[in-house]
Amino acid sequence: MPCTVIVGGFWGDEGKGKIISYLALKDKIDVCVRTGSVNAAHTVWLEGKRYALHMVPAAFVYENCRLLIGAGANIHVAKFLEEVELTKVKNRIGIDHQASVIEEKHSEQDKTSAHLKGIGTTGWGVGPAIEERVRRTAKLARDIPELQPYLTDVALEVNNAIDSGKKVILEGTQGLMLSLFFGTYPYVTGRDTSASAVCSEAGVGPTKVDEVLIVFKSFMTRVGAGPLPGELSKEEAVKRGWFELAAGTGRERRSAPFNFEIAKKAAVINGATQAALTKLDALYPNCKGVKKFEDLPLEAKAFVKEIERQIGIPVVLIGTGPDAQDIIDRRT
Ligand code: IMP
Ligand code: MG
Repeated sequence: MPCTVIVGGFWGDEGKGKIISYLALKDKIDVCVRTGSVNAAHTVWLEGKRYALHMVPAAFVYENCRLLIGAGANIHVAKFLEEVELTKVKNRIGIDHQASVIEEKHSEQDKTSAHLKGIGTTGWGVGPAIEERVRRTAKLARDIPELQPYLTDVALEVNNAIDSGKKVILEGTQGLMLSLFFGTYPYVTGRDTSASAVCSEAGVGPTKVDEVLIVFKSFMTRVGAGPLPGELSKEEAVKRGWFELAAGTGRERRSAPFNFEIAKKAAVINGATQAALTKLDALYPNCKGVKKFEDLPLEAKAFVKEIERQIGIPVVLIGTGPDAQDIIDRRT
């Protein structure tokens, strides 16, 4: 597993935070690079405490992990400083000099721009911040005095780590169906969310990647507007125990059953070599807390096998509860 890219297979909120935090502790990950921006909240539980991280990499739970934010990312300075304080990672987190900065004005533009009306953005301003970066008028991390202590060359650090055989995770955000290129345009986020884009944002070439781990939830959810095949009514979602609120914005998540066609497309475009499946206990309540594949009920096993058959990659991690340790690890 020297260099693994972690991506979402649906519309975000698949449980990447949980999977990354598990791997960080279990595999003793040396370096974790976060990409994307403040719009994505990755939920991590540590010692009974819940963190919804918008900036700090989810691998912070492993105290020897070096945490980095890549050149392609967008930094929300206040949120970054707040989370560094909260997670106590000041001495082991770095930001690339060239990461861009998202400002209050971008959030205003996000909420008031006519062309964004109806998309249902998170309101953080990521789209407008990226527009400004493309115009080449954006502020970069190196322009911000409070960020000076954290500045580093992330691409250099992460490539050195990979070359010396260290264990590296590149942390993607959102999911393929929110990709600017491959998602349900115009109901998408402001960037590509595929594994290639994650590598690009971190500064890692495709030949350096060993595994692409795609995370699927056992059912699909989406926040904001745009198509969701097989969408259930809120009443039905509540009845099935699939009703969720967004970790970042608190908005209600829409839900639908697992869709094999979408999952297949996401696995192909990401070049996925492995899958993780989260929240299996939401589909089959008698899976809760199970830690061995053999102990799963028959219908749950059949569902996992059907995913492997149709998508053609192994489901190596299966989430059976919210805690980082509620997991079936099928890697040998
Ligand atoms: P934006 O990324 O704030 O521009 O929002 C564009 C679309 O992506 C909206 O439908 C958002 O709800 C969705 N979105 C952005 N970030 C996330 C995320 O982390 N999880 C789920 N949906 C997201
Ligand atoms: Mg989220």
